[in-house]
Amino acid sequence: MSDEKNTSFSGQLGFVLASAGSAVGLGNIWRFPYLAAKDGILFIIIYLLLVLSFGFALLLTDITIGRKTRRSSIFAYYAISPKWRYLGVLTFFVPALIMTYYPAIGGWICHYIMVYLTGLQAAAADSSYFTGFISSTTSPVGYGLFFMLITGLIIFFGVQSGIERVSCWLLPIMFLMIIGIAGYVLTLEHTDANGQTRSGMMGLIYFLTPRFEDLTLSRFMQILLDAMGQMFFSLSISMGIMITYGSYVNKEVNLSKCVLQIASFDTLAALLAAVIIIPTIFVFSGPEGMSAGPSLMFISLPKIFNVMGTAGVVIGALFFVMAAFAALTSCISVLEPIVANIMDMFHSERKKTTVLTTLFYLGAVSVIVLGYSIFYVEVKLPNGSTAQLLDIMDYISTCFMMPMISLLTCLLIGWLVGSHWISDEVECCGHVFRAKGFYTLMIRYLAPVVMLILFLQSTGFWNALID
Ligand code: PHE
Repeated sequence: MSDEKNTSFSGQLGFVLASAGSAVGLGNIWRFPYLAAKDGILFIIIYLLLVLSFGFALLLTDITIGRKTRRSSIFAYYAISPKWRYLGVLTFFVPALIMTYYPAIGGWICHYIMVYLTGLQAAAADSSYFTGFISSTTSPVGYGLFFMLITGLIIFFGVQSGIERVSCWLLPIMFLMIIGIAGYVLTLEHTDANGQTRSGMMGLIYFLTPRFEDLTLSRFMQILLDAMGQMFFSLSISMGIMITYGSYVNKEVNLSKCVLQIASFDTLAALLAAVIIIPTIFVFSGPEGMSAGPSLMFISLPKIFNVMGTAGVVIGALFFVMAAFAALTSCISVLEPIVANIMDMFHSERKKTTVLTTLFYLGAVSVIVLGYSIFYVEVKLPNGSTAQLLDIMDYISTCFMMPMISLLTCLLIGWLVGSHWISDEVECCGHVFRAKGFYTLMIRYLAPVVMLILFLQSTGFWNALID
């Protein structure tokens, strides 16, 4: 391993901010709010419980594997057990696949920043604007490549001068923006064509009011699995990302404390994003608008920002800048494990490896972006949805590989090497690990069972079994 790669975060704060930067991303700003809008307070309660149990145990496992082995995923799993090295290779492919499409979405967000800066908000409010934009063969490619280049540039500068420095700036700024926008949204008021006035506070209260009347067992299971999948994606678990970041942490850092801090940042950002989006939709579209789903960010919100007039231009621009920051700190955490693994494999140095990897992904991202025009395909996935290239990459990496890797990691740690392999490392330098017994219970028994169910559900095999 070259010396340059073997640099580390400056300390606990740098590590926590960089990891929180990875965790807080599009999952928080775009996916969490629409899931929360769908199932309300029940979803939030289940999500919080899952973060504190499964999220804590699995995130701690990833980070500790990294710190103990001081390697990226491929070599980390090899160091645990040479027979399990294929699990490391499998883990390497998760960020390798995500990297093909995350910059594409980052590019879309950058385009929407330009929409608000150049006065195109009325055009963007049209239902067909988003589809028209992503199916063009020039503009989305340009934005996707731009986002990829910035990501590559940050990784080029390494762990402390690149990842840590950018995260230490962007994460606090992003939090300030999110809090500011959420505060503003709660003061909103709008009277619709029927003369009905709704306020942001009313939206928040509507959302926080429990509605258990129509709760059936199958709906409860669905909420549980939605929350579980979201937690996984949001905490960047089982992607090799946290193993790589963990390998840059020094022994003095208290890992169980860091995990709680990262999970708190991530959950707070998700809740604040929900406080922005749910009341906004409620005020302008009523409770019915809440079921918009994935189209919320790029179609529903621009419509509302347009109705808001001048304030909408400012809020629209701020919202998409905040989303771009969130996407960028996540995107660098996807590229880093790829570069780190390649450096470990070929004993190459960081700058050269980053340049070559970035060049490769400039090509890959272009192909995925053009998956809505030149390379348009329609593929039916096992989970029932119709997919284009981007969705196929997302399905393979996050629905299929992530739960499978998590399941196998639980078996490896819980049953083969034993949970003390992790707890010994967490307790090194005299750190206290109060949740040790709980951790063992999770990693040995609960997590593997739940991971198996999640794997069957998110791949679509669960429904096939039930039918
Ligand atoms: N955790 C990020 C989010 O919530 C998503 C992410 C996925 C980050 C994959 C890195 C890699 O959006």
